Order: sequence, then structure tokens, then C-alpha cells
Amino acid sequence: MNDTVHLDLATRNGLADAWGLSPRARFAPLGNGLINRTLLVTDDGRRRVLQCLNIHVFRDPALVMRNCHAVTAHLGRERAAGRYDYSVLELVPTLAGEPAAVLADGSWWRMYDHVPDTRTHDTADTPALTFEAGRGFGAFAAALAGLDHGNVGEVIPHFHDPVKRFEAFRAALSADRAARVAQARHECDAALGFAGVLAHWRTLLDAGLPWRITHNDCKLNNLLFDASGRAVCVVDLDTVMPGTLLFDFGDMGRTMLSPVAEDSTDIARVGVRHEHFAALARGYIEGCGELLTPLEHDNLVFAARLVTGVIGLRFLTDYLDGDRYFRIAHPTHNLERARNQFALYAALTAQADALQALVPGSG
Ligand SMILES: Nc1ncnc2c1ncn2[C@@H]1O[C@H](COP(=O)(O)OP(=O)(O)O)[C@@H](O)[C@H]1O
Ligand SMILES: [Mg+2]
Repeated sequence: MNDTVHLDLATRNGLADAWGLSPRARFAPLGNGLINRTLLVTDDGRRRVLQCLNIHVFRDPALVMRNCHAVTAHLGRERAAGRYDYSVLELVPTLAGEPAAVLADGSWWRMYDHVPDTRTHDTADTPALTFEAGRGFGAFAAALAGLDHGNVGEVIPHFHDPVKRFEAFRAALSADRAARVAQARHECDAALGFAGVLAHWRTLLDAGLPWRITHNDCKLNNLLFDASGRAVCVVDLDTVMPGTLLFDFGDMGRTMLSPVAEDSTDIARVGVRHEHFAALARGYIEGCGELLTPLEHDNLVFAARLVTGVIGLRFLTDYLDGDRYFRIAHPTHNLERARNQFALYAALTAQADALQALVPGSG
């Protein structure tokens, strides 16, 4: 973590001018994020976090920054009022008072205060950690309930939209652009069966599933933990936008319940760790407090199925398209990821009743 990053002179000078950094400022890589470039900057004993926004993923960085500002300001007020018991990221404006600096090469940079004495975890190794993650992201959603939706725009339209993702899969299947459908016949047949899940999704929308301001990237490593294993602060606010809690809970389920990584080819080990599901549901419900409606509460297992299935569809779609979106390490990587996610989806589906019975307040 202490290795220094050598920035090119123009970037270094641009950042120094924007935030008034001294010539003694030192930059080091921070965290294992995959989207933005994140640096720890130490200047005269003061630690800050600098991030270069990935403007290929976030096409409207000004909107991302407006959202970040609205969200952090709101959370700060909730915390000050005693309604939110987690730390809040604090944006450090440029000397000109802007939330971000745009350098001469077109790169977008922003600065946060460094949250001290914290670490991230890349895998959910214990139910206690999974509980803390559920509680942290649940409390985050509850704290955002009072934020006016007009203040938070849709940074990536249809990001989790299951209907659009299914349409994209159908289009890739019929185009067969990379001539891979034959190799993926089994997975494509499984994916076509996903239409049944969409029917239930539509009934939820018709029944008035609440549209809230949600995080939309509830990965374990988007939470900072202290040394004792307590969640301290939610980070990575770029995808905060209107959505449903089911996307957030579902993505946590997708990434924390299976004992193996999403690209593991050890399919026999892909499955649902029930003690982790119980911890996740307990933590999320505790964190959400009064927020959850019965419709949301009763569909937490469905949420995990939905998001796991959608991500499986996206991996398969990308495989059929010739690997244009997800970074791959070998030619069948996306197909293997799809297989893994469909196996997890099958396990969640087969065990849905037993899992829902573990949700506090069920039955
Ligand atoms: N304010 C902060 N204080 C301490 N660590 C941070 C802070 N912001 C980010 N990090 C670390 O940097 C990592 C990447 O940041 P993140 O915003 O999640 O970027 P990405 O979008 O690339 O995932 C986080 O997982 C965390 O380890
Ligand atoms: Mg992140």
C-alpha cells in the first residue's frame, strides 16, 4: 500500500493547482476498485483520497458529481441529526469551489477526506461480516429515504433493468455476432427460461414496488470496516440513483452467499450458504428499520434470484457479442461466469422457500 504512484507532470500540477497541494504531496494506490482510479494523497501529514472518474462508464461525470454532492450533503445532515450512525464521505471542493477538477487532458478528478483506520474485505468470509454489510447498506438506504428524487439523476439509464437486459440477450442470441451460440446452447436455453422471472418482476412493478434512491453497487468492498469488523462507511457513490431496494439486496446476495467467486468453474461448490443468507437478511432488515414495505420484505429471496439471473444474462450476452464489455482473462471467461451465475440462480430458486423462512418476520 505504501508504494508511490508517479503521476505525469501535467496531472500532478493540475491536481496541485486545483486543490492547493504542496510539492511534497505523495500519491499511493488505494483499494481494489475496478472502475475508477483511486489514490491516497498525503500532504503535510494530511490524508485525502483522489479519484479519477472512469468517464467511459460514467458518460455524464457532471451528473455523477451533482449526485455525489447531494447524497453526501444529505447523509451528513442525517448523521448530525442522529438518524444515521455511520461515517459519511466528505467531498473536498477545489480551491475554486467546484466538486471536481477537469484537467487539460479532459480527465475528471474529485477528492474525499480519507476515512482513517479502515480496511475493505473482498470476500464475505464470516456471517458476522455479511451481517455488517447488510446492516450498513440497509441503513444507507434508510438514510436516503428523505432525499428528494429530483436531486439525484439516473447516471446509467436502465443499469439493472431486467426487462432491458433480457431484450439485449435475445438480440445477441439472434444476431450471433461471434458465432458462439452453438457452443453456448445449454446456457442459452437456461437463459430463455428467465422469462418466468420477468413475469413475477412485472407483477411487483404493477403492485407498486417502491422506487427509491439506492446504491446500486452493494459490493462488500464498497464498505469500509474498522479493525473489529464493524462497518464504518459506505463508499463508491457513483451509481447512487433511483432504483429498488431489491437491486441492492439482490446484488449483496449474489456476491456474498456463494462460497466461491463469480467466475469459479468449480460449479459443484457454487451454492447458497444459509447462515450467510440469514445474517444478510437480519442485517439488512435491522439497517433498513421502518423502511421496508411488506412487498419488499417478502421478495428478498426473489431479489437475489433476479439480480443473479440478470448478471448471468449479462455475462452470457457479452460472450455472444464477442466480449465487448467485461474484461476477460481467457476466451471462455464470460461463458464460465454465466454458468456460475446460473448455477447460483438454480440453487436460490430450488431453496427459495427455505431461505425466505430465514428472513426475520416471515411466516
Ligand atoms: N474516503 C475513503 N477513505 C478510505 N478508503 C477509501 C475511500 N474512498 C475509497 N477508498 C478505498 O478505495 C477503494 C476504491 O474506491 P471506490 O470508490 O469503491 O472506487 P471503484 O469505483 O473503482 O470501485 C475502496 O474499495 C476503498 O478501499
Ligand atoms: Mg468500489
